[in-house]
Amino acid sequence: MRGHDLFRCATIFAVVLCYATILLGGNVMASGNGLACPSWPSCYGNGNFLPAFQGGAAVEWSHRVMAFFLASSVLVLGVLAGAFERRRPALLRLSVLSLGLVVSEALLGGLVVKNALQAPLVIAHLGIATALFGILLLLALLANFREMPSRWVSWARRALEESPPPPDPDPARSPHPFPSDPSRVSATPREG
Ligand code: HEM
Repeated sequence: MRGHDLFRCATIFAVVLCYATILLGGNVMASGNGLACPSWPSCYGNGNFLPAFQGGAAVEWSHRVMAFFLASSVLVLGVLAGAFERRRPALLRLSVLSLGLVVSEALLGGLVVKNALQAPLVIAHLGIATALFGILLLLALLANFREMPSRWVSWARRALEESPPPPDPDPARSPHPFPSDPSRVSATPREG
């Protein structure tokens, strides 16, 4: 497998993991289990990273475990970008940006827990999550663009085309700002 191919597969993998982490985060929020693991980084602050997988702790811990896989995949992405994508600086920059975002998000997740789910922190946590997803998706689209099936590319072109304006039902009655027929200009009654 070539370096570019490794990189573009890694971008898709990271997008999928980010989506899964966001869904599991929503599950934590919706089920009210944000403090089921009251400490960070380990669940109960005892350095045990394998807590009993039951009840609310299972909901909260599954989100953190998925976040760990996501952070690892974005780290691999950054390494692959550094190794194979130096000649495509936009891809390299986006990879570095997503690495910065995922690290900030994990640290912010810790702050969310340590500050008992304060609303501004939870909102910032959601804000970074959606920004990270957007950037990873953009990265995946750009990295895979050259290999995209041509029918997808032509679908995108068609989606961007403007349809022609609807025909004028009664050209004589509707005033036209730029009439092509000069006789219509003189036909317009003058005021005063
Ligand atoms: C690094 C990738 C992460 C992403 C993309 C992510 C994303 C999310 C999302 C989307 C939510 C739902 C927020 C909402 O519905 O308003 C959430 C909730 C939450 N996340 Fe994360 N998260 C990440 C990492 C972490 C980590 C490492 C922790 C560590 C403690 C954490 C702790 C929490 C908690 C406690 C909630 C629930 C907040 C509440 O119940 O009010 N997250 N996360």
